[in-house]
Amino acid sequence: MVIVNRCQISISTSCPREWSDNMKLCIPKKGTVVDDVMWSVLPPMPKKFHDPKYKAKPKGVANRNGGIDWIRNHATEGVFYMADDDNTYDIRLFDEIRKTKTVSFFPVGLTTSYGLSTPILKDGKFSGWYDGWIANREYPVDMAGFAVAVPFLLTRPKAVMPYSAGYEETGFLVSLNISKGDLEFLADNCTKVSYNND
Ligand SMILES: *[C@@H]1O[C@H](CO)[C@@H](O)[C@H](O)[C@H]1NC(C)=O
Repeated sequence: MVIVNRCQISISTSCPREWSDNMKLCIPKKGTVVDDVMWSVLPPMPKKFHDPKYKAKPKGVANRNGGIDWIRNHATEGVFYMADDDNTYDIRLFDEIRKTKTVSFFPVGLTTSYGLSTPILKDGKFSGWYDGWIANREYPVDMAGFAVAVPFLLTRPKAVMPYSAGYEETGFLVSLNISKGDLEFLADNCTKVSYNND
């Protein structure tokens, strides 16, 4: 399950058939017609955030929570991943995130001024986060930097993404209440980063 933020879908038009057959995209109401995907009507950002007093908008929260609810009501297995339409995804990522048993983390390239956001592992063990904007976040990660196993999500019925600009990822991950020992690190101890010109 991939929850795509906003409307354009670049993955589904270019992905191989056997791959799209095994994947469901949860996409917002307005958008291009795409074959082989599940359509779901996802809610827009609540009106109150249109008020100029909210300078930073918590974008893509309502639709992601809508997608997460859809998963709760329709799925019992698999892994979900929140994709943005302005990212580029290496197809190998999807093989990698299939390994997820609870919540997995992996490097994301070309993000923030550091050019990389990743967990830091030493001798195979977690030792910290590398990200251009740590900002007191418990999980200073990019939306593209983690995946969640559906069976694990189902054990966390209250997990929800907060309407808190900049803190959407960390807020959601904190709400998943993951024990530290359950964090999984993929991509060969987070050493593999693939850029779109790879
Ligand atoms: C991760 O690092 C540990 C310790 O160096 C090593 O034993 C393990 O094989 C590594 N795992 C992968 C998938 O590279």
